[in-house]
Amino acid sequence: MSWADIYPWRSPEPDGPVIRQVYDQVRGAIHQGALKPGGRLPSSRDLATRLGVARASVVAAYDQLLAEGYAEGRHGSGTYVSADLSGVIDLAQAPAAPVAAAPDPPMTRALEAVMGLPPLSPHAQTFSNGRTLMDARAQDAWGKSTRRALRALSPVDFGYSDPAGDPRLRAAVADYLRAARGVVCEPGQVIITTGAQHAVDLAARLLLKPGDAVWLEDPGYAPTWHALEQAGARTVGVPVDRQGLVVSAGVAAAPEARAAFVTPSHQYPLGVALSMARRLELIAWAREAGAWIVEDDYASEFRYAGQPLASLQGLDGGERVIYVGTLNKALFPGLRLGYMVAPRALAEPLAAIRRMTDRQPPTPTQAIVLDFMESGQFAAHIRRRRLAYKAQRDALVAALDRRLGHMLEPDAPDQGMHLIAYLKDGRCDLEAEASAQALGVIARAISPLHHRAPAHPGLLLGFTGFPVAAMDPGVARLAAALGA
Ligand SMILES: Cc1ncc(COP(=O)(O)O)c(C=O)c1O
Repeated sequence: MSWADIYPWRSPEPDGPVIRQVYDQVRGAIHQGALKPGGRLPSSRDLATRLGVARASVVAAYDQLLAEGYAEGRHGSGTYVSADLSGVIDLAQAPAAPVAAAPDPPMTRALEAVMGLPPLSPHAQTFSNGRTLMDARAQDAWGKSTRRALRALSPVDFGYSDPAGDPRLRAAVADYLRAARGVVCEPGQVIITTGAQHAVDLAARLLLKPGDAVWLEDPGYAPTWHALEQAGARTVGVPVDRQGLVVSAGVAAAPEARAAFVTPSHQYPLGVALSMARRLELIAWAREAGAWIVEDDYASEFRYAGQPLASLQGLDGGERVIYVGTLNKALFPGLRLGYMVAPRALAEPLAAIRRMTDRQPPTPTQAIVLDFMESGQFAAHIRRRRLAYKAQRDALVAALDRRLGHMLEPDAPDQGMHLIAYLKDGRCDLEAEASAQALGVIARAISPLHHRAPAHPGLLLGFTGFPVAAMDPGVARLAAALGA
């Protein structure tokens, strides 16, 4: 089969020359690029049947196209659009009819910022953040889950389904979060999303009207700022210190804010955990102000030492907190599956908003993840990842101390997927980022992630995507870039 088999062929007009009309139609489709060089044309018998004309008319039209170089015949296998049309037509030529200029789409600061970002590469460049490693056991188990889950799909799985996700996966996620994160929830409160970013966007769409004030961590995760600005919210940066978000500063700046978007278990980018005192303060403010807290727990799986602080959602009892998590970090970013846990009153409206955007999560992917969880492979994978990522973090810190100890001061967190290496000599982190990039090392400057607070310049280095053996060579390149 080729695209020509589904091309919308029209029957010739009754009062015109049939051969000429067939010829014009095929030639026109080639000129428009609808039929590509090298593509097979329908057999003369098939095209004649579809057009309701005599086969001889199609043969005559094809002969003409063959003679002019539009088509070529391959002995015994039919007629093809010529593989090389360069001598016949210029496919790149501009369309003849002038096209009226379309009005520009309404631009916002956030849209301009995101459009200015470099393209996302599927290839992890040294120290790029948010990457994961699936070891051979995980890949093998994933393959088995895929085969089992796809074999077990039944006709209902090929149809539309609940925008909040497969009820069995929602129940499995609820079990997991109750056990691992102390989240207080039942399956009906879980909404399966395509990831943490999707959940943030859904929460913004539901909770915020244009002009509503919203607290964000400063410094903070740029994509969350972008999503909220695009939603028309008035973003209020709240400073972060060694205990995490300075709640009193948020109260002083915008007590009436409608929501606070925070990363309490591993503040992005600084890596600090929100202290218990600040957690209680934040929840107390939200209760009093009637505000929502969106808890982005994007890297909660990767805790390397000490007791994890239970989720804000659990502490609050699920009244004011919308909990957000992702499987794109626990497994791999290309998966595009995550979840949010909403207070009961918000679960149904969130599912309705989701239905208006991308309708529902994909059934086959949900089935695969469910199998991976139910077979115990998810828990086993997380346990192995914790050990591996801890070793990677330690190897990175050791290499930084050895090669760049005089220039950088790494702040290795007990959780998460990256660390910050602070620049000791007050050197500009943007310049350091550019020099590193020139040698293929991604060391993101943290100063642009600050909005108002003065930045202590530093470089954000991801360690989860690179094996221990890659750390020293990567740091050697960074050292060369920094002129160490
Ligand atoms: C703080 C934070 N939130 C959310 C995300 C987005 O995760 P996802 O890929 O699930 O959309 C990331 C990814 O790096 C992140 O660092």
